[in-house]
Amino acid sequence: MGRFCRADVLVPARHQRSRPLRPKVLITRKIFKESIAHVAKHCDVEINQRDTPLTPQQLIKKLQRKQGVITALTDVISESVLARCPDLKIVCNIAVGFNNFDVKAATRRGVMMTNTPGVLDDTTADLTWCLILAAGRGLIDADRYFRSGKWKGWGLMQFLGHDIHHKILGICGLGRIGARVAKRAKGFEMRILYTGRTRAPQEVERDLDATFVDKQTLLRESDFVTLHVPLSPFTTHYISAAELKLMKPTAVLINASRGPVVDEKALVKALRDGWIAGAGLDVYEHEPRPAPGLARLKNVVLAPHIGSATMETRLKMANKAAENCVAGLTGRRPPNLLNPEVLKA
Ligand code: GLV
Repeated sequence: MGRFCRADVLVPARHQRSRPLRPKVLITRKIFKESIAHVAKHCDVEINQRDTPLTPQQLIKKLQRKQGVITALTDVISESVLARCPDLKIVCNIAVGFNNFDVKAATRRGVMMTNTPGVLDDTTADLTWCLILAAGRGLIDADRYFRSGKWKGWGLMQFLGHDIHHKILGICGLGRIGARVAKRAKGFEMRILYTGRTRAPQEVERDLDATFVDKQTLLRESDFVTLHVPLSPFTTHYISAAELKLMKPTAVLINASRGPVVDEKALVKALRDGWIAGAGLDVYEHEPRPAPGLARLKNVVLAPHIGSATMETRLKMANKAAENCVAGLTGRRPPNLLNPEVLKA
């Protein structure tokens, strides 16, 4: 099979009849057959079967005469892409984050944009906890040591990590994912501090036993600092050298939000020079490349952006994007419309 294929090879024969005026949709990455089949019931679908991102030029070329596109967070839908794809009516991200979209430009051009909120909160909170536990206890380094055959038996002073239970967890951004992370922290009997642009309702604070503090207090007092803010111009380098210097030398930084929220070069220095004890990262400033020196450090756990990567959740996300796309192209309001203003216009 070539790099691109039409979806009619993947869907039952009854959906294969080509009908006039069916909208045309591009799916930019490999996704689940079920999700493709849903779109293919209503639209002619072209899929990038290779699981590598399209270059902006390839994307623009493929989007000519297409009304819809299902994108991944690796596809940048900028003003200039939108300007060169005049037939586009809807862009559906398979992600809750949409920092790869220029929503304002899309609104100006009457293009709908959607994301996939609500289905990945628990899964991403689970992965955040994997990072907290693995980074706190040095699990990956210990695993590497064991596999190397160097381990000669138990020793009292070997691989001493940091307790997680009864410590202070600082959550930056107590939104849907941050709140799920907090919920899990209760089982570890942790004290929870949080900060963010807005304070959570009282009942949420009470429910989670979470105390609102300013960013500096959170950084100074927390043993684990976990980031759950969306990426925007306000949160780019939300954690940089100044913030890392405020943290305890025994503290661990966790980032499962977006890479550019952390100044990665400053983080390498902080980890190397002992400003903080460790980090657990799922996202990077310049994916897929880590900052120079990061991958050589032992006190950091590095995951390849797998926050929502479970069978169940990725399927739900792809199906949600497919539903949004079909709704938008068949005259219904997409359930997860980011720019409802386009409908009014
Ligand atoms: C994943 O990173 C997402 O934003 O859904």
